[in-house]
Amino acid sequence: MELLRTPEVARVWSSNVHLRNEKLAIVPTMGALHEGHLELVAQARAAADRVIVTIFVNPLQFNQRADFDAYPRPIDGDLDVCRAIGVDAVYAPTAAVMYPRNYQTHVEPGVLADRLEGPMRPGHFRGVSTVVLKLFAVTRPHVGVFGEKDYQQLAIIRQMVADFDLGIDIVAAPISRESDGLARSSRNVRLDPDQRRAARVLSEALDEAVIAWRAGEHRVSQLIATAQEMIEAAPLARLEYVEFVDGVTLESVDDAGDGGVMLTAAWFGEVRLIDNHVFAR
Ligand code: PAJ
Repeated sequence: MELLRTPEVARVWSSNVHLRNEKLAIVPTMGALHEGHLELVAQARAAADRVIVTIFVNPLQFNQRADFDAYPRPIDGDLDVCRAIGVDAVYAPTAAVMYPRNYQTHVEPGVLADRLEGPMRPGHFRGVSTVVLKLFAVTRPHVGVFGEKDYQQLAIIRQMVADFDLGIDIVAAPISRESDGLARSSRNVRLDPDQRRAARVLSEALDEAVIAWRAGEHRVSQLIATAQEMIEAAPLARLEYVEFVDGVTLESVDDAGDGGVMLTAAWFGEVRLIDNHVFAR
């Protein structure tokens, strides 16, 4: 497995893949790899001849310095994992090479970034879009694999690929969950045991709404109330939002009869978690 530390070196590696006419898939991550990331790699492997994983804790997308500082960075373990599962190359640049002193240009996402996570995390999706475009520019992949765990991020990346004519096939991987339903996240390791137990309420609340929906409740206000009440009743959870939106436009809908996506965000202590469920017939 190749470890690539600069854009120049990564570009040469990718050029060689292209020269061999091989298909390349990229899996962008911020490291602290867990099983959810590994499932993305498996999808990438299935879709292409070569897989490149990127590991970069992107300062531009953190709107709280404390969250950036506390973000886990077990790089040696991550590299071992990538080696073990047959990743072809890891691109792990430093912040200094990604954003040198005179760095100036950013990607400004459109209305998809104005709701849900957007207002809660100013600048977040601008940072995500910018770094993902830079990773795409260096590696020039045919396929990019992203998780549905970050549903809004996935939608914004798809839009960027269409708007900038990048011609990259974006593959969505379903949410990987712990045995109690908690969506896997690099931030879960920061939960203390009580918070960890409490955090399952997010997936339980989404499941409860799904049960109501399957039983014929299509009023979004009722579905939201069901999930909201459950999360608010959990003593260690501080709910930020429960919303139900159209799966493509991310606009709120009143009637869930045609499906949609329920998304939620909540704090457990100092850790902010998100989860969602796609309601589909
Ligand atoms: P990170 O949180 O490390 O996630 C990397 C990829 O793994 C994302 O596409 C995310 O949606 C996916 N992922 C994380 N947890 C998952 C889970 N439980 N099930 C399925 N997929 C999961 O998302 C980012 O990093 C960054 O914003 C990034 C795109 C790398 C840009 O910096």
